[in-house]
Amino acid sequence: MKLDVCRWKSDRRVFLKTATGSAIIAMIEGQSAIAKPTLFVQTAGSNSLGVTKATRVIIDTDPGVDDAFALMLALQSPELKVEAVTAVAGNLPLGITLPNALRLVEICDRADIPVAGGAAAPLIRRQVTAASAHGENGLGGVELPEPKITPVKEHAADLICRIANQSPGEVTLIGLGPLTNIALALRADPTLSKAVKGIVLMGGSLSGGNVTPAAEFNFYVDPEAASIVFNSGIPITMVGLDVTRKVELTESYIRQLEAGKNKPSQAAARIARAIMATYKKHGQNGGPTLHDPLAVSALIRPNILTFEDYQVKIETTGTITAGESVGWKRDPINYAAALENIGPSSTKSEGTFTPNTKVAVDVRPDEFFHLLIERITSNA
Ligand code: BDR
Ligand code: CA
Repeated sequence: MKLDVCRWKSDRRVFLKTATGSAIIAMIEGQSAIAKPTLFVQTAGSNSLGVTKATRVIIDTDPGVDDAFALMLALQSPELKVEAVTAVAGNLPLGITLPNALRLVEICDRADIPVAGGAAAPLIRRQVTAASAHGENGLGGVELPEPKITPVKEHAADLICRIANQSPGEVTLIGLGPLTNIALALRADPTLSKAVKGIVLMGGSLSGGNVTPAAEFNFYVDPEAASIVFNSGIPITMVGLDVTRKVELTESYIRQLEAGKNKPSQAAARIARAIMATYKKHGQNGGPTLHDPLAVSALIRPNILTFEDYQVKIETTGTITAGESVGWKRDPINYAAALENIGPSSTKSEGTFTPNTKVAVDVRPDEFFHLLIERITSNA
């Protein structure tokens, strides 16, 4: 399948022009009928000789302090074969997240991996960023060298479609930011949902948000994109705030990183030290939370997490709750009651319980940090 690269140049304008509010809703709703996913939590597979095959992944990210740790974990782990890194606007504008992605790939000596820029803003909403949590440069104020490598010309959504379609059923997407790029890819190529093996994402929560009481940041920023992904039929593994809130960086972990001799440990230690200092300065309890690397760890050591099957949908219409992830565990799938005289006569109950997501509901933080530090400090 060949996509026209030029059409992404002003992707958001094009999207807004070609996808009116109702078209987006049609897509959000229509896709739910596409496929009944086989739920999965995957690990690297073995062939008949018992040789372990690395899991092929594309990482979509908005670095971002915890994204930086996630990239280092993925790039330093032999269980994963990182096919590409795609950047999206999220924690900071794309003009910052894309160079950061390049910097991190370079620090891990992986200039062979293509890095592509993607969406500069959510599908239909105004951009919201999180510089207060990640620093104005997205890396806690730590200045890492200017990247020497440059992004590929292909738009992130094109690149996702191309790589996934070249090897149907082989490539897993890892979503660490707002899901705009992945939603754009699904919109451009409705067969993509069948081509990808699954998506593992950091986002959402079944126990309250971190931007509003309802919504987690990545879903809050682009609820329509999240909804398109959750209705796509792609088997989803959701590593949300329910578990990521429990993996806080501590002084002892920072010291272990500082003891590392390689470039990734030194970069990780400096970022960790800086972000911890910001935390202390603002009198916050505990340490910074490493959301995104925990999602990556689900593909390396799934036993670090405990999963339960849910049918998850994303709230897109609530003025207070947009971006909330709502999970049903069983029938009936009840919705809000219909408004008198408006719309369909009943929206109260719909469909049957069809799990579309493995939701991480518990975590072993010590095992996670052991893995993270071992990988970042190792000479991969
Ligand atoms: C998520 O939001 C971002 O700030 C982090 O990088 C993470 O992906 C946590 O809500
Ligand atoms: Ca992120």
